[in-house]
Amino acid sequence: MPSPKSHEPRILITAGPTLEHLDPVRGILNRSSGKMGLALAKACRARGLAVQVLVGPVESAVRDDLRSHGEIAEYQTSEDLQKLLINFWPEHDLLFMAAAVSDLRPAEVSQSKLPRSPVSIQLEPVPDLLAGLSDKWPSHGIRIGFALENKNQLMDRARRKLASKKCHAIAANPLETVGSEVVSGAWITAGEHVALRKMTKDEYAVELLDRSLQLWSGKFG
Ligand code: CTP
Repeated sequence: MPSPKSHEPRILITAGPTLEHLDPVRGILNRSSGKMGLALAKACRARGLAVQVLVGPVESAVRDDLRSHGEIAEYQTSEDLQKLLINFWPEHDLLFMAAAVSDLRPAEVSQSKLPRSPVSIQLEPVPDLLAGLSDKWPSHGIRIGFALENKNQLMDRARRKLASKKCHAIAANPLETVGSEVVSGAWITAGEHVALRKMTKDEYAVELLDRSLQLWSGKFG
């Protein structure tokens, strides 16, 4: 692994939903537009930072926009994303894990289209990808997790996620953020719990990047 001290941080962003296949034409899709990842990619490029984006099944306009702000690699399932992360993370320094990864996936994928008749689908848990990276490379880079929570539980649940995912910070957003143009989020690290002012997603991305770069400089700068 190259020394991270001698260069500007190389940014890895995950964006969009995962699609867990059920059969050749159906699947379980998390709701996520990929726009948070896009705002982060723009903020990074505006600073001249190298950006690699791992993008799930998002609208083609968002994917094309992402491509114009960095290199992209596409995934569909959480397993594809896990493989890409294992491939790309060692060569990057700052991870924004903005993808909405499914918590559950079908235990088996049918090779033929399921008929229109009652069917029970067994779901199995998806491993926590962020926690997996933290376990595999505990002292590599700065890892930022995201959390979408009910307003009244936001801080508590974000603190718990910071610990369970062993990441350096959690950017926590209230559920109302979905589909909204503005964010009233919070930034949680081991030593800091900050309620951020209401801002646009682009401003929020710049705020998160600034705070993450401070963590990076504090550790590796
Ligand atoms: N995440 C992950 N692997 C998963 C699920 C989530 O790496 N299997 C990441 C997301 O990309 C995000 C963070 O963990 O950065 C929080 O995601 P969230 O869905 O809120 O967390 P969960 O662990 O799934 O917790 P819960 O659904 O119980 O709120």
